[in-house]
Amino acid sequence: MQVNLKNYKKDTEFSYEPFLEILGTGLVTSEGETWREQRQRISSALRVEILDDIIAIATRAVDRLSEKLERVRGKNEPVELAEEFRLLTLQVIAEAILSLTPEQSDEVMPNLYLPIMEECNRRSLEPWRKYLPTPEWFAHRKRVAMLNEYIVNLIRGRWKKRTSGEANENPDILDRVLASVEVEDYGADIEEQMCYEIKTFLLAGHETSAAMLIWTTWELVNNEEKMAKAVAEANKVLGKVKPGRLPTRDELAHLDYNVSALKESLRLYSVVPVVTRRAIADDVLGGCRIPKGTTVIISLQGVHHREDLWPNPLSFEPERFLDGKNDELGNYAYLPFIQGPRNCLGQYLALLEARVVLATLIRRFKFKSASTKNGAKHTKAIPIAPADGMWFTVE
Ligand code: HEM
Repeated sequence: MQVNLKNYKKDTEFSYEPFLEILGTGLVTSEGETWREQRQRISSALRVEILDDIIAIATRAVDRLSEKLERVRGKNEPVELAEEFRLLTLQVIAEAILSLTPEQSDEVMPNLYLPIMEECNRRSLEPWRKYLPTPEWFAHRKRVAMLNEYIVNLIRGRWKKRTSGEANENPDILDRVLASVEVEDYGADIEEQMCYEIKTFLLAGHETSAAMLIWTTWELVNNEEKMAKAVAEANKVLGKVKPGRLPTRDELAHLDYNVSALKESLRLYSVVPVVTRRAIADDVLGGCRIPKGTTVIISLQGVHHREDLWPNPLSFEPERFLDGKNDELGNYAYLPFIQGPRNCLGQYLALLEARVVLATLIRRFKFKSASTKNGAKHTKAIPIAPADGMWFTVE
């Protein structure tokens, strides 16, 4: 596929179709020149400095979650941690892109954004919902309009500030992207495009990271010895950070075992299990004729569970990722973020955020499974998340 990449475009007719109100012509679904320009613009906004901000943003978010968990510590009151991770990753991405406060994020996201996502997910499996004028249909349309208005107002306000010389002291991703827009180019088209980009980032950047965090926590909770290794490492690395100071990226780079556990959960659970493409002309792939118009489904999970590449593939073994052990497998044996020019733009951000959250939580709390339903996978939604949440008591 990499040899004839131009022949395969994103599958906006089918797999991404129910999500187009969110994704529109944003980075995940755009093609050609629009994609190239936007990728360039956004990847420069995601450079090193914003990653340093992510450490601060993720630390604040995990401190807030810790306060919440502190209130139920030792009380035998189960907490649904998958949902907590979803809210946390939303807060992190909303602050990183838009400087939203956690209160703003908790108001807008669960009331507008999450119900929109739920309806989009339902339309993936029940496509007729898009055409039936039910009360939910009208509620959905209203929410989409309100979310668009909210985001466009934020963009407009920010642009006004920029052009009147009142730049944000601590620029977020929106500031950085707007910095590359010429005054004469700014208008309704740019606002619409930015709105799609922001919604794309919210979508791409929160559920995947939350799913990685919850599966990693679940596997570690089930494996005392591996949890002990992860906690010992978290204590060693974060224990050196004096209260009031943030860990640096170099210090966080020593969380090898924690990061290996996160990577292993991305292999085992393959939170994005497939990606799909549409062939725009006839081709031959691996000796197989691919007629124009064919939907090609690439099974990332299939690759991640191949026994010849990953012995004992259904077992959770973070050790596989330690000391570059799997380097000889090459670029195409491990694909949670895919490979090539359309690879995930948020992968470093995701792994940085997640290691801060995981290491902070496991050194402070002991989680115990509180439901026999824990561990079951949702079978009808991507990214792969728990079927009935993930309930833990906290000690
Ligand atoms: C564990 C977390 C994550 C996983 C497993 C993941 C996985 C993926 C995958 C598989 C794709 C390719 C989709 C396709 O080609 O159809 C992708 C694309 C993308 N991801 Fe992620 N992602 C994660 C986190 C993030 C975060 C945190 C952000 C934003 C901050 C993000 C932003 C994007 C964007 C913008 C693209 C589209 C890139 C392009 O087409 O040029 N992702 N991601």
